[in-house]
Amino acid sequence: MRIEYIKETESTNEYIKRYLEDGEDRIVYAERQTKGRGTNGRLFISEEGGVYLSFLTFYRNYSSNLAFERMMHAAVAVCKALETFGVEPKIKWPNDIYLKGKKLCGILIENLFSGGKLRASIVGIGINVLNDLTGLEGIATSLSKELNTPPDPNQVRDAVIANFQQKTSFKDYLGYINFLGQQILVIEGDRKFSAMARQILPDGRLEIEEKGEIRALSSAEIRIRVTE
Ligand code: BTN
Repeated sequence: MRIEYIKETESTNEYIKRYLEDGEDRIVYAERQTKGRGTNGRLFISEEGGVYLSFLTFYRNYSSNLAFERMMHAAVAVCKALETFGVEPKIKWPNDIYLKGKKLCGILIENLFSGGKLRASIVGIGINVLNDLTGLEGIATSLSKELNTPPDPNQVRDAVIANFQQKTSFKDYLGYINFLGQQILVIEGDRKFSAMARQILPDGRLEIEEKGEIRALSSAEIRIRVTE
């Protein structure tokens, strides 16, 4: 697959969109982003020393569950890559990667439709490696904070690219989830409530139990916080 390396761009997810007409899968990697994009319109601070990668994948056969499959695949590929450097990453549903309760990596997926069909997806991955996290203490971590001898960002990038090309399974994904059976805070629009996380269904929804009632929620509708 073609890989393009750039020093700096606003956002690799935006940059890679120039190739949407090509129909060829690609990867773009930047050393720094000036307007890195996070989920829910948030800014993803992207100083030098981190890994900022976007994968553009085109589809011929559309599967209705592809959105979750992409999320799952990206999260598992990053976890497998990170394990090779000696850390034990966990997935916070649906696809944030945490180390010891702090965020190490964020993933932003954009699905592109035409004529009502999913045509391509852009999977953007940002990993904290040697980058400065001033102002994010308490919520974020990096490989340099967790390891005595942190890897070079290029090694992390290459490990993620290699794992991204491998097959991953739902079972792999579940192996990195560690909050099932625990109390969580569910944020659904303006409503916040406490519930028990029961299981993740194969379609990616989270099954919760709230006051004896069981229901499944999609990651597009809610956010969660582990409270136990
Ligand atoms: C999040 O946790 O909010 C998602 C963060 C995703 C960041 C990555 S870095 C590479 C790609 N380009 C972007 O602008 N965002 C994603």
